[in-house]
This record gives sequence, C-alpha cells and structure tokens, in this order.
Amino acid sequence: MTVSTPARIRIFDTTLRDGEQSPGFTMGAAQKVAFARALEELGVDVIEAGFPNSSPADYSAVQTIAREIRACTIAALARCHPADIDACAGALQHAHAPRIHVFISTSPLHRQHKLGMSRAQVLEHAVMGVSRARLHVDDVEFSAEDATRTEREFLVEVFEAAIEAGATTLNVPDTVGYATPGDMRALFDYLRSHVRGAERVVFSAHCHDDLGLGVANSLAAIEGGARQVECTINGIGERAGNAAMEELAMALKVRGAYYGADTGLDTRKLLATSRLLSRITGMQVQRNKAIVGLNAFAHESGIHQHGMLKHRDTYEIMRPQDVGWEDSQLVLGRHSGRAAVADRVRRLGYVLDDAQLDQLIVDAKALTQTQHVVTDRDLQRLVEGEAFGQGWRIAGMRLADEGGAAHARVELSDPSGRHVTQGAEGEGPVEALFAALSHATGVGFVLETYEVHSMGMGADARGEANLSARIDGELVTGQGTSRDVLQASAIAWLDVANRVLRERQPLREAVVA
Ligand code: KIV
Ligand code: ZN
Repeated sequence: MTVSTPARIRIFDTTLRDGEQSPGFTMGAAQKVAFARALEELGVDVIEAGFPNSSPADYSAVQTIAREIRACTIAALARCHPADIDACAGALQHAHAPRIHVFISTSPLHRQHKLGMSRAQVLEHAVMGVSRARLHVDDVEFSAEDATRTEREFLVEVFEAAIEAGATTLNVPDTVGYATPGDMRALFDYLRSHVRGAERVVFSAHCHDDLGLGVANSLAAIEGGARQVECTINGIGERAGNAAMEELAMALKVRGAYYGADTGLDTRKLLATSRLLSRITGMQVQRNKAIVGLNAFAHESGIHQHGMLKHRDTYEIMRPQDVGWEDSQLVLGRHSGRAAVADRVRRLGYVLDDAQLDQLIVDAKALTQTQHVVTDRDLQRLVEGEAFGQGWRIAGMRLADEGGAAHARVELSDPSGRHVTQGAEGEGPVEALFAALSHATGVGFVLETYEVHSMGMGADARGEANLSARIDGELVTGQGTSRDVLQASAIAWLDVANRVLRERQPLREAVVA
C-alpha cells in the first residue's frame, strides 16, 4: 500500500491588511505587532502586514513587523504603481523573508468602471508592477483582482505575463464573494492546465464571504490545486469578511484524508489568537461561531448530552483541546436531560435515588428560569437542600456624561432586600456602570468576553448582554435582557456577581445518600 504525503498548504494571513481595513477593526501600531507575534507563534507561513503607501502609520507598522518577526514571510501590498511598490520595498527592507504583493483588477467590470483601462493597458501595468517588485525582492505575488469575474482567456494571458515578469505566486481573488465551490475548483483546474509556466509558481486563493462561501471556496480551490490560501482570524475582512483561518485549518485537519492536505499551523493556538484579536478590536465572535465561539464545544440538549456521555464522537468531530479549549462543556440548561444531571451529580460524589434525582431535575430546571446555566456549585447547593436567595437585583440606574467622563449611579437591593446606592466614574458608560456595581456589591472580576445584541424591532426591541469572567480558573457566564442594553449589561454583571457570592459561602456539610 502506498501512502502519499499530504500536500502542504501555505497559510497567508491577511488579518492585518484585508481585515484591518474593514470598519470596526482598525488597530494601533503596537497592537498590530502584538498580533503579528501571535500569528508567528501560531505558525502561519505569510503575514500580510499592511499597505505601506496607504498611510505613514501603515508604513511604519509594516516596517516594525518586518524587523521583529523572523519565522514568517512578511508581505506588503501595492497597486501596480511605482510609488506603492517602492514603499513596500522600503518598509520591508529589514524583513528576513520579504514579499511584495502587487495587484490590479482584471475583470471587464473593473477595467471599464474602476480603472478606465483596456485589456492591453491592464496587461502592461501588471508586467510593470511585477518587474519593478522583482527589482527589490525575489518573492513576488501577483493578484488579479476580481479574477473570478474575469474572462478565462484574459486571466491566462495576464498570469502568463506575470510569470514571465518574475511572479512566484499567482493569487486568484474572489474579490466580491461571487463564486461557488464548483466554479473555484474548475477555475483552478483550468488555470493550472492552461497557464504556460504554471508548474513554476504557487497558485493561491483569496475568497471573500459575501455568500457565506469563503471557506468552502478556499477548500474547493485546494481541490483544484491551490497551494496557498489567504485568510483571516475570525474571518474578518472587507464587507462580510474573508475565509476564516480557524475554519480552514480545522477542515484540513479533521478531513485531512479527504483533502490530502495539511497546514503547518499549531492549531492549539487558534483560540488564543482569536481571543487576542477580539480583545484588540473589541469585536467578539458570535457564540455559535465554528471553532472559536463560546458554544462551539458546548452541548445543552438532553439527547446530545446523553450521546456525549456514552461516546464523545457521537456529537464531536474534533477535540476541543486541538484548537485550544480546555474541554467541551456539558451545559446544564433548560434543554438538558436526566442523563446529564445524573452524570454530573455522580461526578460530584453524590448517590441519589430516583426520586431524589427527579426532584433535583425539577429544581435545576426551575433555576434556569432565573439563570442561564446551572453550575456544579448550583447542583451541590440544590442537592444539599439550600435555598437560593434572591441575590443582588437592580432597582434603578442613572448614567450621565460630564466633563469628558462617564458617571453611573446604581440603586440595588441586596440579598436581604435592603437598598444600596453607589456611584462611579469611568472612561465610558459601561466602565462606569460596572465600577458602580463592583463598589456596591464588593465583588470584583475581570471580564473575559462582553457582548451585547439587540433583538426585535420597534416597541418590541430588547437588548441582550452576555458576559464571561474566569474566576479561580473556571469560566463563569452571566446573561441579562432588558429594553435597554446598559440595563441588560448590569443584569448580566450581577448574574456573575451573584454566582461569585454564592461560591464564597461555605457549603453545608450534609451528605445525601
Ligand atoms: O479581495 C481582493 O481582491 C484583494 C486583493 C488586493 C488581493 O484583497
Ligand atoms: Zn480581499
């Protein structure tokens, strides 16, 4: 039996260029460098650090990254304009492995409406761009922007000219996310068999996610022979974003036998890199985001939990540890079943008879009316017959902006029903609000994630806040809903605080047998 070695797919990360240029994802210079270090640790092959001629700040960020990162190729973007290309060369001067990435639009729509150029002019610019870049560096990538809407024979002509001029990587962007997986695979097959000199270059795919097909299209491109994929962490990028690296990497790993391909990534660092990006940009991924979302390895439904307890492969296609999670979570919530509660209780060291277990399930479900999930600690208290107090509740809150600082005043009722009023300041309303809650309750914690969403429209509109904090190594989550997102945030914060306070109360000694 012959076993073929998997094809090595190069991971070209463009979080700092295509990702950073999209609304809401702007980063400062120090943040870009910190993120580039995380990408280096993750093991990406190429970091596209920016577009040096777009601003002095971008130039200097690319320059610093080029100086500091030694284990990856550092790419910088340029239009086929001499000034852009020379700026790349300057910014990449100290890079260990520099790459200049030149691009020009090739599709009829872009030629006519964006560039006002004929085919011949586009061809001439492409050749000039690649040749000029080659005067500076040996590693030159050429991108035919809007390639997937370009006439095939013209695309072949431009790519052949780019190879002749010295390009070493040919990138095929699906700039507007229009292609289907079938289109992509066929296009790569076609290009590899029609472009003269194809065997001397690496073909690359750069897929946008306008139809939610970015990852599927990149994988189809690999099936068609692409050996580099361009992607971003958390899938950030222009409009709907780019193909998400974490999804691509895990598809190639989990379905390695199907694709016959692998990456050089240390996938156990994917979650940490995703979280770093969220912290830097303040943009959280949605809970159900593949690989890195909070729910990606959480199982709440009774049937699924039952299956997981019998054999985890029933509902998990990869190990959470392979992407950086500590473990999967069997969340005890409204939809959990008897098997999961029984298993948890057994693991906590209790032996319950059927009637006791039935009662515990009723009590645990009742608890999910007021809190999102039931923790082990909650179960212990229920088993031991301890009543759940009301905890801290919001009675009123006021927020004001004075002299450049935000002020929050909260009125709370404490677990015994007494009213407590506290005020605090912060740089923004959320910071002020959480500080006032912390002063009032005497509870402090650092948030790991904080998300707010609005639900519904008009008079029915409501805000939902979800936050999480790591307390003594355990992830504690809180949830709140209200007409007002700040009030929802306060309720979610108190949800966490009430848990922390319960944790601090010693459990009674009684053991149920
Ligand atoms: O989407 C695109 O076409 C691009 C190119 C500059 C590669 O980002
Ligand atoms: Zn792009």
